[in-house]
Amino acid sequence: MMRIRLALCHSLCILVLTFSSKLAAVEPIRVVLEFVPDLDNGRRSFEICARCHLPEAWGNDDGTYPQIAGQHVNVLMKQLLDIRSGRRSNPSMQPFVQERTIGGYQNLSDVVAYISTLPMNPAHNRGPWTEDSDEYEFGKKLYLQYCSSCHGQYGEGNNELSYPRLQGEVR
Ligand code: HEC
Ligand code: HEC
Repeated sequence: MMRIRLALCHSLCILVLTFSSKLAAVEPIRVVLEFVPDLDNGRRSFEICARCHLPEAWGNDDGTYPQIAGQHVNVLMKQLLDIRSGRRSNPSMQPFVQERTIGGYQNLSDVVAYISTLPMNPAHNRGPWTEDSDEYEFGKKLYLQYCSSCHGQYGEGNNELSYPRLQGEVR
Protein backbone atom coordinates (compact mmCIF):
# COMPACT_ATOMS: atom_id res chain seq x y z
CA MET A 1 0.00 0.00 0.00
CA MET A 2 1.27 3.44 -0.90
CA ARG A 3 2.10 5.66 2.03
CA ILE A 4 3.04 9.28 1.93
CA ARG A 5 5.52 10.50 4.47
CA LEU A 6 5.39 14.14 5.20
CA ALA A 7 8.19 15.84 7.06
CA LEU A 8 6.63 18.78 8.79
CA CYS A 9 9.85 20.67 8.90
CA HIS A 10 8.68 24.08 7.76
CA SER A 11 7.01 25.57 10.80
CA LEU A 12 7.93 22.95 13.37
CA CYS A 13 11.68 23.14 12.81
CA ILE A 14 11.63 26.91 13.04
CA LEU A 15 9.72 26.63 16.29
CA VAL A 16 12.05 24.02 17.73
CA LEU A 17 15.18 25.79 16.52
CA THR A 18 14.08 29.11 18.01
CA PHE A 19 13.30 27.40 21.26
CA SER A 20 16.49 25.35 21.31
CA SER A 21 18.72 28.35 20.64
CA LYS A 22 18.09 29.33 24.25
CA LEU A 23 19.19 25.94 25.56
CA ALA A 24 22.61 24.45 25.06
CA ALA A 25 23.07 21.18 23.14
CA VAL A 26 19.43 20.48 22.31
CA GLU A 27 18.95 18.58 19.08
CA PRO A 28 16.25 19.76 16.64
CA ILE A 29 13.22 17.47 16.53
CA ARG A 30 11.87 16.24 13.22
CA VAL A 31 8.22 15.20 13.12
CA VAL A 32 7.16 12.85 10.32
CA LEU A 33 3.50 12.06 9.60
CA GLU A 34 2.25 9.24 7.39
CA PHE A 35 -0.92 9.14 5.35
CA VAL A 36 -2.51 6.36 3.32
CA PRO A 37 -3.90 8.17 0.28
CA ASP A 38 -7.42 7.78 -1.04
CA LEU A 39 -7.14 7.95 -4.84
CA ASP A 40 -10.89 8.47 -5.41
CA ASN A 41 -10.89 11.49 -3.18
CA GLY A 42 -7.69 12.64 -4.93
CA ARG A 43 -9.42 12.45 -8.30
CA ARG A 44 -12.25 14.63 -7.02
CA SER A 45 -9.90 17.20 -5.49
CA PHE A 46 -7.87 17.27 -8.69
CA GLU A 47 -10.79 19.04 -10.44
CA ILE A 48 -9.51 22.28 -8.88
CA CYS A 49 -6.03 21.69 -10.31
CA ALA A 50 -7.35 20.62 -13.72
CA ARG A 51 -8.56 24.16 -14.39
CA CYS A 52 -4.95 25.14 -15.00
CA HIS A 53 -2.95 21.91 -15.34
CA LEU A 54 -5.71 20.42 -17.57
CA PRO A 55 -7.57 17.14 -16.93
CA GLU A 56 -4.65 14.88 -17.97
CA ALA A 57 -2.26 16.98 -15.81
CA TRP A 58 -0.12 17.45 -18.94
CA GLY A 59 -0.10 21.23 -18.63
CA ASN A 60 0.22 23.29 -21.81
CA ASP A 61 2.83 23.18 -24.55
CA ASP A 62 4.87 26.20 -23.52
CA GLY A 63 5.06 24.92 -19.95
CA THR A 64 3.59 28.01 -18.31
CA TYR A 65 1.20 25.49 -16.76
CA PRO A 66 3.64 22.67 -16.15
CA GLN A 67 2.98 18.97 -16.68
CA ILE A 68 2.65 17.37 -13.26
CA ALA A 69 1.39 13.89 -14.29
CA GLY A 70 3.64 11.06 -13.15
CA GLN A 71 5.77 13.22 -10.84
CA HIS A 72 6.97 11.64 -7.60
CA VAL A 73 4.66 12.10 -4.59
CA ASN A 74 7.31 13.65 -2.36
CA VAL A 75 8.24 16.16 -5.05
CA LEU A 76 4.58 17.11 -5.61
CA MET A 77 3.99 17.46 -1.88
CA LYS A 78 7.03 19.67 -1.43
CA GLN A 79 5.92 21.98 -4.26
CA LEU A 80 2.38 22.20 -2.82
CA LEU A 81 3.62 23.07 0.67
CA ASP A 82 6.18 25.53 -0.68
CA ILE A 83 3.53 27.24 -2.81
CA ARG A 84 0.96 27.15 0.02
CA SER A 85 3.35 28.87 2.42
CA GLY A 86 4.67 31.35 -0.15
CA ARG A 87 8.19 29.91 0.09
CA ARG A 88 7.85 29.30 -3.64
CA SER A 89 6.20 32.30 -5.25
CA ASN A 90 3.20 31.35 -7.39
CA PRO A 91 0.49 34.00 -6.93
CA SER A 92 -1.98 32.46 -9.41
CA MET A 93 -1.95 29.01 -7.81
CA GLN A 94 -1.49 29.99 -4.18
CA PRO A 95 -5.21 30.55 -3.35
CA PHE A 96 -6.02 27.05 -4.66
CA VAL A 97 -3.69 25.20 -2.31
CA GLN A 98 -4.79 26.78 0.95
CA GLU A 99 -6.40 24.60 3.61
CA ARG A 100 -9.80 26.26 3.03
CA THR A 101 -9.68 25.34 -0.69
CA ILE A 102 -7.97 21.95 -0.93
CA GLY A 103 -8.12 20.75 2.69
CA GLY A 104 -5.56 19.39 5.14
CA TYR A 105 -2.61 17.01 4.78
CA GLN A 106 -4.83 13.98 4.11
CA ASN A 107 -6.43 15.74 1.14
CA LEU A 108 -3.04 16.90 -0.13
CA SER A 109 -1.79 13.30 0.14
CA ASP A 110 -4.84 12.07 -1.79
CA VAL A 111 -4.37 14.55 -4.62
CA VAL A 112 -0.60 14.07 -5.02
CA ALA A 113 -1.04 10.27 -5.01
CA TYR A 114 -3.67 10.59 -7.75
CA ILE A 115 -1.48 12.89 -9.88
CA SER A 116 1.51 10.57 -9.58
CA THR A 117 -0.54 7.68 -11.03
CA LEU A 118 -1.45 9.65 -14.18
CA PRO A 119 0.51 8.73 -17.35
CA MET A 120 2.77 11.44 -18.78
CA ASN A 121 2.16 13.08 -22.13
CA PRO A 122 3.66 10.78 -24.83
CA ALA A 123 3.66 13.66 -27.36
CA HIS A 124 5.27 16.25 -25.14
CA ASN A 125 6.89 19.34 -26.57
CA ARG A 126 10.45 18.77 -27.78
CA GLY A 127 13.45 21.00 -28.28
CA PRO A 128 14.76 21.99 -31.71
CA TRP A 129 17.48 19.29 -32.00
CA THR A 130 17.05 15.83 -33.48
CA GLU A 131 18.62 12.80 -31.82
CA ASP A 132 21.42 12.57 -34.40
CA SER A 133 22.53 16.21 -34.04
CA ASP A 134 25.73 17.36 -32.36
CA GLU A 135 23.73 19.62 -30.04
CA TYR A 136 21.70 16.66 -28.81
CA GLU A 137 24.86 14.68 -28.09
CA PHE A 138 26.38 17.67 -26.30
CA GLY A 139 23.22 18.14 -24.23
CA LYS A 140 23.29 14.47 -23.29
CA LYS A 141 26.92 14.76 -22.22
CA LEU A 142 26.20 17.85 -20.10
CA TYR A 143 23.19 16.15 -18.55
CA LEU A 144 25.11 13.01 -17.62
CA GLN A 145 27.97 15.07 -16.23
CA TYR A 146 26.07 17.67 -14.20
CA CYS A 147 22.51 16.51 -13.61
CA SER A 148 22.20 12.73 -13.62
CA SER A 149 23.76 12.24 -10.18
CA CYS A 150 20.53 13.57 -8.68
CA HIS A 151 17.91 13.35 -11.44
CA GLY A 152 18.97 9.86 -12.59
CA GLN A 153 20.46 8.56 -15.82
CA TYR A 154 17.14 8.82 -17.65
CA GLY A 155 15.74 11.81 -15.77
CA GLU A 156 13.64 9.51 -13.62
CA GLY A 157 14.34 11.40 -10.37
CA ASN A 158 14.08 9.85 -6.93
CA ASN A 159 11.01 9.88 -4.72
CA GLU A 160 12.83 9.09 -1.46
CA LEU A 161 15.22 12.00 -1.93
CA SER A 162 12.59 14.32 -3.51
CA TYR A 163 14.56 14.74 -6.74
CA PRO A 164 12.04 15.67 -9.45
CA ARG A 165 11.43 13.44 -12.43
CA LEU A 166 12.52 15.47 -15.48
CA GLN A 167 11.92 12.97 -18.28
CA GLY A 168 9.03 13.78 -20.60
CA GLU A 169 8.35 10.33 -22.02
CA VAL A 170 6.05 7.62 -20.76
CA ARG A 171 7.92 5.26 -18.48
C1 HEC B 1 -4.84 29.14 -11.32
C2 HEC B 1 -4.05 28.16 -11.99
C3 HEC B 1 -3.52 26.99 -11.18
C4 HEC B 1 -4.24 26.13 -10.37
C5 HEC B 1 -5.74 26.14 -10.06
C6 HEC B 1 -3.29 25.14 -9.88
N1 HEC B 1 -2.04 25.41 -10.38
FE1 HEC B 1 -0.35 24.34 -10.02
N2 HEC B 1 0.75 25.70 -11.06
C7 HEC B 1 0.24 26.77 -11.77
C8 HEC B 1 1.33 27.48 -12.42
C9 HEC B 1 1.20 28.71 -13.29
C10 HEC B 1 2.52 26.80 -12.07
C11 HEC B 1 3.95 27.13 -12.51
C12 HEC B 1 4.49 28.27 -11.72
C13 HEC B 1 5.96 28.45 -11.97
O1 HEC B 1 6.41 28.43 -13.12
O2 HEC B 1 6.69 28.58 -10.97
C14 HEC B 1 2.12 25.67 -11.22
C15 HEC B 1 3.00 24.76 -10.66
C16 HEC B 1 2.62 23.62 -9.98
C17 HEC B 1 3.52 22.61 -9.49
C18 HEC B 1 5.04 22.64 -9.60
C19 HEC B 1 5.43 21.97 -10.89
C20 HEC B 1 6.87 22.10 -11.23
O3 HEC B 1 7.26 21.59 -12.32
O4 HEC B 1 7.64 22.66 -10.46
C21 HEC B 1 2.78 21.63 -8.92
C22 HEC B 1 3.27 20.35 -8.29
C23 HEC B 1 1.39 22.04 -9.04
N3 HEC B 1 1.33 23.25 -9.69
C24 HEC B 1 0.33 21.29 -8.58
C25 HEC B 1 -0.98 21.78 -8.50
C26 HEC B 1 -2.06 21.10 -7.82
C27 HEC B 1 -1.94 19.74 -7.14
C28 HEC B 1 -3.17 21.89 -7.93
C29 HEC B 1 -4.55 21.66 -7.34
C30 HEC B 1 -4.61 21.51 -5.92
C31 HEC B 1 -2.78 23.07 -8.69
N4 HEC B 1 -1.45 22.96 -9.01
C32 HEC B 1 -3.63 24.10 -9.03
C33 HEC B 1 -1.09 27.12 -11.85
C34 HEC B 1 -2.13 26.52 -11.18
C1 HEC C 1 22.54 17.99 -6.14
C2 HEC C 1 21.36 17.45 -6.77
C3 HEC C 1 20.90 18.09 -8.08
C4 HEC C 1 21.64 18.30 -9.23
C5 HEC C 1 23.09 17.96 -9.49
C6 HEC C 1 20.72 18.90 -10.18
N1 HEC C 1 19.47 19.03 -9.62
FE1 HEC C 1 17.84 19.75 -10.52
N2 HEC C 1 16.79 19.63 -8.78
C7 HEC C 1 17.26 19.10 -7.61
C8 HEC C 1 16.25 19.24 -6.57
C9 HEC C 1 16.37 18.77 -5.13
C10 HEC C 1 15.14 19.90 -7.17
C11 HEC C 1 13.84 20.30 -6.49
C12 HEC C 1 14.00 21.64 -5.82
C13 HEC C 1 12.76 22.04 -5.05
O1 HEC C 1 12.07 21.19 -4.51
O2 HEC C 1 12.45 23.21 -5.01
C14 HEC C 1 15.53 20.13 -8.56
C15 HEC C 1 14.70 20.73 -9.49
C16 HEC C 1 14.97 20.77 -10.86
C17 HEC C 1 14.01 21.18 -11.88
C18 HEC C 1 12.55 21.59 -11.64
C19 HEC C 1 11.73 20.34 -11.82
C20 HEC C 1 10.27 20.48 -11.51
O3 HEC C 1 9.49 19.62 -11.97
O4 HEC C 1 9.89 21.43 -10.82
C21 HEC C 1 14.65 21.10 -13.08
C22 HEC C 1 14.07 21.40 -14.45
C23 HEC C 1 16.01 20.66 -12.80
N3 HEC C 1 16.17 20.46 -11.45
C24 HEC C 1 16.97 20.46 -13.77
C25 HEC C 1 18.31 20.18 -13.50
C26 HEC C 1 19.36 20.18 -14.51
C27 HEC C 1 19.15 20.46 -16.00
C28 HEC C 1 20.52 19.89 -13.86
C29 HEC C 1 21.92 19.82 -14.45
C30 HEC C 1 22.39 21.02 -15.14
C31 HEC C 1 20.19 19.67 -12.45
N4 HEC C 1 18.84 19.87 -12.27
C32 HEC C 1 21.07 19.28 -11.47
C33 HEC C 1 18.49 18.50 -7.43
C34 HEC C 1 19.55 18.56 -8.33
